[in-house]
Amino acid sequence: MSTPLGPLHVTGEVLATKTVGAHRHLTLVAPGIGERSRPGSFVAVSTGEARLARRALWIHRVRPMGGHRATLDVVVEPRGSGSRWLAGLAPGAAVDVTGPLGRPFALPREPARCLLVGEGYAAAPLLALAERLRQRACPVHLVLCAPDESRLLDVLEARRSVAQVDVVTGDPQAAIAAAVASADVVYSAGSVPTLRACADAAAAAGVSCQVALERHLTCATGLCSGCPVPLLHHEEDGGPRVVRDCVDGPVFRAGLVDWESL
Ligand code: FES
Repeated sequence: MSTPLGPLHVTGEVLATKTVGAHRHLTLVAPGIGERSRPGSFVAVSTGEARLARRALWIHRVRPMGGHRATLDVVVEPRGSGSRWLAGLAPGAAVDVTGPLGRPFALPREPARCLLVGEGYAAAPLLALAERLRQRACPVHLVLCAPDESRLLDVLEARRSVAQVDVVTGDPQAAIAAAVASADVVYSAGSVPTLRACADAAAAAGVSCQVALERHLTCATGLCSGCPVPLLHHEEDGGPRVVRDCVDGPVFRAGLVDWESL
């Protein structure tokens, strides 16, 4: 029987928490969601009764824990009231979770040299992606970058599981340009400037590039049109179009994105 892929809405529970650098890691029990997720999927999580908006969080890892078959690890960088509320949750707290949402990364059909570039907490989906790529015999080179050391994500774990890891604090553009030279495929998750640096370097090198684009999400389910992403060429008719990040993305082929208008 095939695995159902549609999103679920569940009342979940915080199973464990830890602080690593500037980030708060939450492990959530959200039955059924982990089993359906793919690298690049995200969840929308409630941020308390007084706030209607939910936070979109990358699914960092899916693993068995505490007798649960597929818990979700998510990473929160406390910046606004909603993310601070989430970061303050203790084990046992209830949270509403909807997911998995969005279009995940597409995997190469044949073994290919893959460059993964992840910036800060947004690097969260890339370790799971690296694992999938290794299963397909794809050599993986991971570049983890952040404005400072406290916002680098999981460097030690990455070095345990990925053969080639570069760590960059500060501007990653030079490292990206150098690494793209020996890649067949580029995957990136991070800020718009970093995604664009990957897109530009990949275009110059003539290699394909997928970017996980993080926009401010209100409904996260395609209803409010509050997460516009301008495309130069839509896959269906080739014309320019504005699409929704939460349902048409968050992963896009970099060459389709109208970076100037974003
Ligand atoms: S956040 Fe509402 S349509 Fe995307």
